[in-house]
Amino acid sequence: MALEAIRYKNGNLEVLDQLLLPDETKYIQVKGTKDGWNVIKKMQVRGAPAIGIVGILSLAVELHCKFFNSLDELGEYVTEQLTYLVTARPTAVNMADFRDKLCVQLSEWSNEANSTVNGVTQKMLAEIESQLEYDINTNKTMARYGADHIIKHYKGKSVKVLTHCNTGSLATAGFGTALGVVRELYSRGCLLHCYCTETRPYNQGSRLTAYELVHDKIPATLICDSMAAVLMKDKAITAVVVGADCVVANGDTANKVGTYQLAIISHYHSVPFYVVAPSTSIDLDRDTGAEIVIEERPPDEMTTLKGISIAAKGISVWNPAFDITPASLITGGIVTEFGVFKPDELKDRLTTTLQKKSE
Ligand code: MRU
Repeated sequence: MALEAIRYKNGNLEVLDQLLLPDETKYIQVKGTKDGWNVIKKMQVRGAPAIGIVGILSLAVELHCKFFNSLDELGEYVTEQLTYLVTARPTAVNMADFRDKLCVQLSEWSNEANSTVNGVTQKMLAEIESQLEYDINTNKTMARYGADHIIKHYKGKSVKVLTHCNTGSLATAGFGTALGVVRELYSRGCLLHCYCTETRPYNQGSRLTAYELVHDKIPATLICDSMAAVLMKDKAITAVVVGADCVVANGDTANKVGTYQLAIISHYHSVPFYVVAPSTSIDLDRDTGAEIVIEERPPDEMTTLKGISIAAKGISVWNPAFDITPASLITGGIVTEFGVFKPDELKDRLTTTLQKKSE
């Protein structure tokens, strides 16, 4: 059975409660944007692509049953709700990307001759609902590009990869970004082993990535984040593959905290470091990583485990959810659905590709 973080059909949305995994499989019904905002904020659903998709689908749930008197009223409501959804988690750029694109489309459709409230609503719904399939296809394309690149780099020899956080079916509409590359390498018989970090403080690696790897019977081993350097020294890791919450124009990349230290360690050990990110996670309007807002999470996500205190009471806590890996450390490349780019060619290559696509 495929792992499904998001279930959606005809205005009915359910998300797998990832806070309960791996012990319990329970879906939560999302009845509108308020619920959507809450499941994203609480991290019952997480991962940049999944955050964006659940956000817009929660709006689709409302569009299925809400009535609007005019195109202006529809436009105002949609813009307001999309903007509200962006505030749930500020670093992952996918939700903001959907807001920007949907608002442009909405105004284009509304300005067409003979446009009606119902007609525009249906177009909006079709666009939102198509994103589930689009995301899975995008992930599979990136997986092929990423696997090709790694296999070529190692001249066809089998590889041992290290990944961080969770970037698989649970973080996307399905298949995954960096974990999609791992799945592809495995299905081609080119993966010797996958190592995944525990990913403190919230353990997306030990709870979710390990769960996906066991589910798919991929040969894999869990390590604590602090073991990454010795792993690279002793276990001949051949590539590091991670996802992204936001890649900016110069290639600087925000991803789960701990990614930056993995990139430094990879550089020291001459291990190629890959970021796997769909174009919806890339923001070319920001020049460098200094412009990315890093979300800070509540202290208890670090000081407690399943409600049990694991830190001295009274200690102060700093809990940034992400860090920024400078482009210079992304030595393997940035894998997108349009190919694998070196960070310094990302802006030009992506701009040209997106321009051609829109012509
Ligand atoms: O805080 P999270 O669990 O939402 O962080 C997830 C990550 O950092 C992922 O690596 C990133 O969103 C890419 S998911 C395909």
